[in-house]
Amino acid sequence: MISLRNIVFKYGKRVILRNITTDIQDGVTYVIGPNGAGKTTLLKIAAGIYKPSSGEVIVDGINIWDVDEAKALEVRRRIIYVHERPAVLRGTVLKNIVYGFKLRGVNDTGEVLRIVKPIAEEINVVELLWKNAGELSAGQLQKVALVRAIALRPRYLLLDEPFSHLDEESVKRVSYVLRRIVEDQGVCVVVASHIREAVEGLSPRVVMIREGELVKVSPEP
Ligand SMILES: Nc1ncnc2c1ncn2[C@@H]1O[C@H](COP(=O)(O)OP(=O)(O)O)[C@@H](O)[C@H]1O
Ligand SMILES: [Mg+2]
Repeated sequence: MISLRNIVFKYGKRVILRNITTDIQDGVTYVIGPNGAGKTTLLKIAAGIYKPSSGEVIVDGINIWDVDEAKALEVRRRIIYVHERPAVLRGTVLKNIVYGFKLRGVNDTGEVLRIVKPIAEEINVVELLWKNAGELSAGQLQKVALVRAIALRPRYLLLDEPFSHLDEESVKRVSYVLRRIVEDQGVCVVVASHIREAVEGLSPRVVMIREGELVKVSPEP
């Protein structure tokens, strides 16, 4: 579980998040709210990318900003945040994916491909693996970033507007895969979205934020 306790976040003097307290539990959580509400900021705080101005982020019982670097790094590795517009390196999509594995100690391209290919098949993007990452559309990028993230087997997968550039068919495929990893692998999935898409078969907990405030959680805890 990722527990957010009294999270305040400021950019300079501007308060972006105001005292948010919530638990991100197993299963699927939707963080919804209008543009500018603070969803992306909240996800990055939950991922340990941004440090809150005050408040605590507790992942599996560990207060990530209150332990030594090595411990914090170990905990942060359980979490993957996928940006709405993922950054890419030069070269093929596969090379980009291999790089992500290298950071985690897997160096063999064949081994990476063995892990990645079945997931790419589920999302119907196998042929993109050998394309130049710089040539992909926004939707294709979202899909391959998701393949990479799932292949890395996170405990927590935080997705920022993951459907924003996808067509209906892709939304279906992605929803199916998300449901599978939640059910079969126990991955905890968080989706930030400015609209509440109907994702078939997923019954998420919904955390609604508006102007940096948590206004509603349903079902009620
Ligand atoms: N780097 C930044 N510097 C200053 N203000 C920012 C920055 N990034 C986001 N903001 C502001 O923080 C607020 C929340 O942004 P964000 O978390 O991206 O919201 P959402 O994802 O819900 O659209 C917005 O008002 C936005 O303008
Ligand atoms: Mg956002």
